[in-house]
Amino acid sequence: MLFSRPGRCRCWGWAVDSLHAMPSGPAHKKCFAHDRSQDHGKEEWLTPPDLVNLLGPFDLDPCSPVRRPWNTAAKHYTVLDDGLLQPWHGRVWLNPPYGAETGKWLSKLVRHGDGVALVFARTETAMFHKHIWPMADALLFLRGRLTFFNVDGTPGKCSAGAPSVLIAYGEGNTARLREVAHFGAFVMPMSLKSRAPSELPLLGVGRG
Ligand SMILES: C[S@@+](CC[C@H](N)C(=O)[O-])C[C@H]1O[C@@H](n2cnc3c(N)ncnc32)[C@H](O)[C@@H]1O
Repeated sequence: MLFSRPGRCRCWGWAVDSLHAMPSGPAHKKCFAHDRSQDHGKEEWLTPPDLVNLLGPFDLDPCSPVRRPWNTAAKHYTVLDDGLLQPWHGRVWLNPPYGAETGKWLSKLVRHGDGVALVFARTETAMFHKHIWPMADALLFLRGRLTFFNVDGTPGKCSAGAPSVLIAYGEGNTARLREVAHFGAFVMPMSLKSRAPSELPLLGVGRG
């Protein structure tokens, strides 16, 4: 079983740290990678292949490395094509470039309406409140943290600097996330989907 004991599990090849065994303190924090504050803009953090295989097959990955160690979909766009400008088709796998551009990719997936996205679970941000909470059909908050891969196919030395969430757009993708819901917490934000983002009250003190 994936989460039968505390500590690091590599049962699938994608490493997950048990929530209860997450390290703390400065020494361990240095080890976290793939986080906006610590990653100096590196974009080439690849999805653990077993995670894509679990959720696939996908028809299109619109943002993939120029030289990829494995396929994530039947067709790939790279930065040389600019996947944001290309027409999208079929079932899409989206682990988008992180940072300010992420919202544009999610916005396109919302309009496309068929796909699964993987982003950090920064649930308070403007991006999350615009493209995910009111637009997604389902979310699966993954238990523990993923270890992303380098373009040469090797796993990163550390787990990610934040928890990850899978986001389903479309009925089939919602069903798929429900089938694998035991890997985290499955949520269907139905009450929000029927409301336009601008109708949502802003209660907090900060801005995402
Ligand atoms: C977080 S990585 C995800 C890679 C891959 N989709 C996966 O799931 O493993 C984001 C990828 O987007 C690519 N990328 C960045 N800008 C792009 C663009 N305008 N068009 C297509 N791909 C782009 C980067 O080269 C990088 O490989």
